[in-house]
Amino acid sequence: MKRNKINWRVPKGMEITDLDRKVLYYQDRGHLVPTRELIKTPEQIEGIRRSGIINTGVLDLVEKEIHAGMSTLEIDKLVYDYTISHGGIPATLGYEGFPKSCCTSINEVVCHGIPNEFDILEEGDIINVDCTTILDGYYADASRMFIIGKTTPKKEKLVQVARECLEIGMEAAKPFGFIGDIGHAIEKHAKKNGFSVVRDLCGHGVGVEFHEEPDVEHFGKKGTGMLLVPGMVFTIEPMINAGTWEVFIDEEDGWTVVTEDELPSAQWEHTFLMTENGLEILTH
Ligand code: MF3
Ligand code: CO
Ligand code: CO
Repeated sequence: MKRNKINWRVPKGMEITDLDRKVLYYQDRGHLVPTRELIKTPEQIEGIRRSGIINTGVLDLVEKEIHAGMSTLEIDKLVYDYTISHGGIPATLGYEGFPKSCCTSINEVVCHGIPNEFDILEEGDIINVDCTTILDGYYADASRMFIIGKTTPKKEKLVQVARECLEIGMEAAKPFGFIGDIGHAIEKHAKKNGFSVVRDLCGHGVGVEFHEEPDVEHFGKKGTGMLLVPGMVFTIEPMINAGTWEVFIDEEDGWTVVTEDELPSAQWEHTFLMTENGLEILTH
């Protein structure tokens, strides 16, 4: 097995805990393990949890208000107003130059669609709304799909299977399992249903920053990648395509990710805490 970085170091003078011993066991056998900083303190977990409550409130509001004839800019305004009035900050606003408070990704748009006044929701559209809240410096990140009115059986199935992929990925993540277990389970379920998994974008550690280590790929091999340790907080956010997994970025805005074949794509996302017993959802 290839030797990985020495990420886990017990600070000098600090007593070695049972957790240290356990993680060092894997590290000594060549596995990639998290740094100690990726293990959240109870205080940090509490902060992320509270941020998650606001983020869930935002998505519940969008779910209640979304309708045909609405522009994606109107969705953005709901997200901004709710977040600010609850003491939070929308994390995407100004993030690496992103101009809005959420991402709105319709049909063949995979993710990172920018809300605007010209995209008007139509009957049969499927749309992902992705919101991230910062509260007292803590980040919570989640997204849902919404079906506008009635859509085609194919798009309905895509939305459903993408949701199942998130659930199956969640179930596959066990303490002292590996990141690759998650991607393996997701890819298997997507393929079984005739769909493909986007490979260029992934889930991520989250909580103290927007995007932390590790990358959480939605494809892969069991038993590979970083060790999953209680106290880690990360997203799983599979992007599932009806056709090819390949995507491109809109050159005009530099953000919008679109499927290469312009067939539809669906995505669901939660922020999770790894516990002694498996994942706990922090965004519902
Ligand atoms: N919320 C997205 C994620 O799940 C990131 C959006 S970054 C933006 O990681 F800049 F595009 F908004
Ligand atoms: Co995310
Ligand atoms: Co997100």
